[in-house]
Amino acid sequence: MKDQFGRTIDYLRISIADLCNYRCMYCMPKEGVCKLTHEDILSHEEIIEIAKAATELGIRKIRVTGGEPLIRKNVVSLIRALGSLPGVEDLAITTNASLLAPIAMDLKEAGLKRVNISLDTLNEEKFRYITRGGHLQDTLDGIRAAAECGMKIKINTVLVGGFNVDEIPALADLTRKYDLELRFIELMPIGHTHPFGKEAYVSDSIVSDYLPDLKSVHREDGVARVYSLWGAKGKIGLISPLSNHFCTECNRIRLTADGHLKPCLHSKEEILVRGLHGEELKEALRQAMYNKPARHKTLSYESRSDSARDMNAIGG
Ligand code: GTP
Ligand code: 5AD
Ligand code: SF4
Repeated sequence: MKDQFGRTIDYLRISIADLCNYRCMYCMPKEGVCKLTHEDILSHEEIIEIAKAATELGIRKIRVTGGEPLIRKNVVSLIRALGSLPGVEDLAITTNASLLAPIAMDLKEAGLKRVNISLDTLNEEKFRYITRGGHLQDTLDGIRAAAECGMKIKINTVLVGGFNVDEIPALADLTRKYDLELRFIELMPIGHTHPFGKEAYVSDSIVSDYLPDLKSVHREDGVARVYSLWGAKGKIGLISPLSNHFCTECNRIRLTADGHLKPCLHSKEEILVRGLHGEELKEALRQAMYNKPARHKTLSYESRSDSARDMNAIGG
């Protein structure tokens, strides 16, 4: 369906867990997050009921997110059920991939075709630092497993000034060898991204300083502007929520793990849909879609997001 500004809303992002086995510095506080109890989290049946109502209103693309979605029990059967909903044309997941290798094939067989994976550095020690304890090798194993079973892969690299900007060429080099899309993302000032000062924010225009042969613009792909290196198998994407926001083309709403709809990543306003059924549920979805704000107000790294949630409780 269309929202009040004529944008077609056909993409639902579903966070199925707010917990994560990592605690990336830009995503959640050092001390981790308060664990929602089992009862606070939507059950598989509730998620499927809400997703089904959303597909009846025109949702065609579903992305499963977290926290870390793969920590959720029986995630394979949840993926299978979501992929079987009539109307779902694209089903994807955003993950840190540390738990992906053992279940990649099961997920593929359950209907998952695409996976977006967070990877901010190729250095083991820096990886441990930014994720507060994660192991680079686990994520690399997950990427390899996804590639081996033929999934389409995008790598999400959040640019953090003073941390990984010097790795832009090495990360981009992955696209020379592998048919994947590497996306450089501007750091968003949402939730507890505070261990960083304002020098941590770098506009993604810096990417072309490091990659002078980044020439041909291929297409827009969702939130990313897509380029490639000459002769490379893969693509480079730039996601610029601050310097070049994409709100006028936004096509998405979000469902949080505790059953709230978020019309915009940065919106404070949330609509509780847990406990609603049938027409009531559809009406709440309709309202959330129709009333999506025109754009977010986060104009610079110094202006904070209106969202009351940390990134892990939204799912990106
Ligand atoms: P594709 O389906 O492959 O296009 O994935 P995606 O880019 O929609 O999802 P992903 O979870 O990989 O998110 C990539 C980055 O874009 C993350 O940093 C998200 O936080 C950010 N992002 C996704 N949707 C929005 C949005 O609506 N607004 C803003 N500002 N950022 C977003
Ligand atoms: N700014 C930009 N991107 C972020 N992500 C998490 N927190 C932030 C932030 N503050 C990205 C992660 C993940 C995706 C869901 O969102 O890298 O790939
Ligand atoms: Fe976990 Fe992803 Fe957040 Fe990192 S960015 S803490 S991997 S949910």
